[in-house]
Amino acid sequence: MDDGRRPRHIAIIMDGNGRWAHSRDLPRVRGHEEGIQSVREVARECARLGLIQLTLYAFSVENWKRPKREVEFLMRLLERFLVSEREEIEENNIRFAAIGRLHELPSFVVDELNRTIEMSKHNTGLTLCLALNYGGRAEILDATRRIASLVREGKVAPEQIDETLFERCLYAPEMPPPDLLIRTAGEMRVSNFLLWQISYAEIYVSSVCWPDFRREELHRALEAYSKRVRKFGGLQETNVEG
Ligand code: FPP
Repeated sequence: MDDGRRPRHIAIIMDGNGRWAHSRDLPRVRGHEEGIQSVREVARECARLGLIQLTLYAFSVENWKRPKREVEFLMRLLERFLVSEREEIEENNIRFAAIGRLHELPSFVVDELNRTIEMSKHNTGLTLCLALNYGGRAEILDATRRIASLVREGKVAPEQIDETLFERCLYAPEMPPPDLLIRTAGEMRVSNFLLWQISYAEIYVSSVCWPDFRREELHRALEAYSKRVRKFGGLQETNVEG
């Protein structure tokens, strides 16, 4: 596959952990644990392929509505993941990042997040970004508040507000927009993920639950992506003259 047909940035809505566990008569949380294996394998493969970024929707602003025990389990799992994957992150030259209302996460998670970000900041390969306590609408509102403050302080005039300025106020201004948005477990929804950034992303829905989404499934998605024709609202290159 030539580089032009490979996405630079893949974003994934990891869905179906509960269904994976339920179909095996296991507690839901076992699905989350198994999902970690998929995170590791998919991140490793994206790094090996030379992708610029992989962004994973690990915890949404809406996920606080889940039973308290499940939320606590997910936070502890995240803490364990951040500690146990450091070696893997280093070995694969991965730069770790996170987006979302991170300050509202438990301090034991924030501490490990900061450690992993700091430790990996000089790596030059794949950026592995976790969306945590993340919501697309929340991100747009947070950016709007920052712009409103700039206007109030007299640093920006309302006429100067354009897409470039807006993007500079998002959680990760330097991130390239996702080329490919993958959702697992067959759901056809965007679920408040990267609403600004996915404007022109190609969407690929896999019927497989996240714990079963491994290297082969990733390659299936990449194969489908390589056949898409991206026009960004314009015409296909071969049609420009006609
Ligand atoms: C969706 O499955 C998954 C989540 C809400 C959490 C995603 C978390 C993981 C994959 C594990 C933790 C990840 C990291 C990086 C630490 P669901 O529970 O909504 O599944 P269901 O729709 O089948 O019930």
